[in-house]
Amino acid sequence: MHDAGQESSDVLVVGGGAAGLSLALRLAESGRRCTVLAKEALTEGASLYAQGGIAAVVDAADSFESHVADTVDAGAGLCHVETVEQVVSHAPAAIAWLRERGVRFSEDAGSSTGLHLTREGGHSERRVIHAADTTGREVETTLEQLVRRHRNIRVLEHYVAIDLVTTAKLGLDGANRCLGVHALDRRRHVVETLRAHYVALATGGASKVYLYTSNPDTSTGDGIAMAWRAGCRVANMEFVQFHPTCLYHPQAKSFLLSEALRGEGAYLVLDDGERFMQRHDERMELAPRDIVARAIDYEMKKRGLDSVFLDISHRDSAFVCEHFPNIQAECRRFGFDLTTGPVPVVPAAHYTCGGVVTDHRGRTDIDNLYAIGECAFTGLHGANRLASNSLLECLVFAQAAALDIGGREPRAEVMPAVVPRWDESRVTDPDEQIVVSHNWDELRHFMWDYVGIVRTTKRLQRAANRLKLLDEEIREFYSNFRIDNDLVELRNLVQVADLIVRSAQARRESRGLHYTLDYPRTADLAADTILTPPG
Ligand code: FAD
Ligand code: SIN
Repeated sequence: MHDAGQESSDVLVVGGGAAGLSLALRLAESGRRCTVLAKEALTEGASLYAQGGIAAVVDAADSFESHVADTVDAGAGLCHVETVEQVVSHAPAAIAWLRERGVRFSEDAGSSTGLHLTREGGHSERRVIHAADTTGREVETTLEQLVRRHRNIRVLEHYVAIDLVTTAKLGLDGANRCLGVHALDRRRHVVETLRAHYVALATGGASKVYLYTSNPDTSTGDGIAMAWRAGCRVANMEFVQFHPTCLYHPQAKSFLLSEALRGEGAYLVLDDGERFMQRHDERMELAPRDIVARAIDYEMKKRGLDSVFLDISHRDSAFVCEHFPNIQAECRRFGFDLTTGPVPVVPAAHYTCGGVVTDHRGRTDIDNLYAIGECAFTGLHGANRLASNSLLECLVFAQAAALDIGGREPRAEVMPAVVPRWDESRVTDPDEQIVVSHNWDELRHFMWDYVGIVRTTKRLQRAANRLKLLDEEIREFYSNFRIDNDLVELRNLVQVADLIVRSAQARRESRGLHYTLDYPRTADLAADTILTPPG
């Protein structure tokens, strides 16, 4: 393998999810040229599988104040209110932007907006705009077509970004600036240096660090790990959101059963059919996610159950099939039927609330480097994200970053003529590939066991000890063996797991998604956990 060359673009967008595609399209529409990099096929990522929808105030009976208050309430004292107001107030325009580009949402002829609005946990109003139960697919496939057709956009699929190239890494003077990325072309097995005036990380979350997750394989925290290694601060990584209801079946790979099911009246029940959420929160099944996931975890452990059950069979079956066609089809594939009885569910890792610290424009600590979407920390979600606020954050921050980049000139004069090539002169082919997959399994198991829904100081320390050993092994692999996608991802997962554990250890209280038996109280003063890279 060798460095194939020094490609150059105006803006390099790393990621083809809702954040990356909408940023690329907005930039291209305003005349900027960009390259979109995706490590799998362009649209593969969490966005493609989003179900419930996108939260936005579009109904006259609803209000921005109410959406802000619900977001802040779910966030358990850690939301940055100015960010919440920015996102909530831009939400209607983000929905309009998608509709103008051809995204078709479920309609309701009887409503003043013409849109069907569903409800999810933590929302005091019906304000979730959706395309049946495949909202992400509708958004992604519509944007994909536009991106692929746009003459200002170049798409590089099956390219995995390995690391950022920065002036600090090259030993150049002045403030640290991003110059591009090293990326592995997975089909040709070649590492390329992709130079750019601006780089935007839109690489999604890190839920694959856990054994059970609702996320696709792409969610390995690459952007967060790359930004950290390059010198960016990372915040609130302890707040890992576990979605309460994923299908419990050995072959179902934690398939998500949307919170919109509960929004439309589904109950959570035990194996004997008894509802239990009244014991945990007066909002019952529509309490925020952290509360519902913890309640399920508690009931399962107390009774020694493998799962609890989600039951919407009391609702009209035509309604269920119309609103949840994809979920019903998947359930039937595994021998269950939403319309006739309860379906077994368990919580699984779903969303990374923390990420690369950014400002209201998506700028990071490194000049010319942006981060948007799930890999970013904007302050919107606090200690627990409100349902359907994530796609919204992707769209609003894509717009903010596009506007900011749009106001800045391509600064060709500050780019060094060449960036050093990827050096593989001293590496060999891995003879122990099995060790990579073994390490991956080990990591995901102990993160699930020790850094899950309920934590203790001792379990966190156990995880930290294991991570230290894994880190040493990965470093050795990374320096001595030829790079491939598995190694890139494992290195990033170990890095991100370390950030999660260190953040969890630093928080000596229970708040939102971080619950520890050793510090069960919530502190009076709420503060973000901000980690700063060494040196
Ligand atoms: P993603 O959509 O995950 O995209 C990341 C992109 O980056 C991918 O293209 C990936 O290939 C690429 N990438 C990653 N690393 C690299 C690398 N090193 N090099 C090159 N490319 C890379 N949120 C809601 O608001 N509403 C919902 O209804 C909803 N439902 C959900 C249902 C499911 C099953 C899941 C998993 C999540 C759901 N979420 C929902 C959360 C939401 O979908 C995600 O937070 C959001 O889509 C993240 O978008 P993104 O663009 O930041 O990242
Ligand atoms: C869901 O449909 O339950 C997922 C919604 C979200 O993660 O915001």
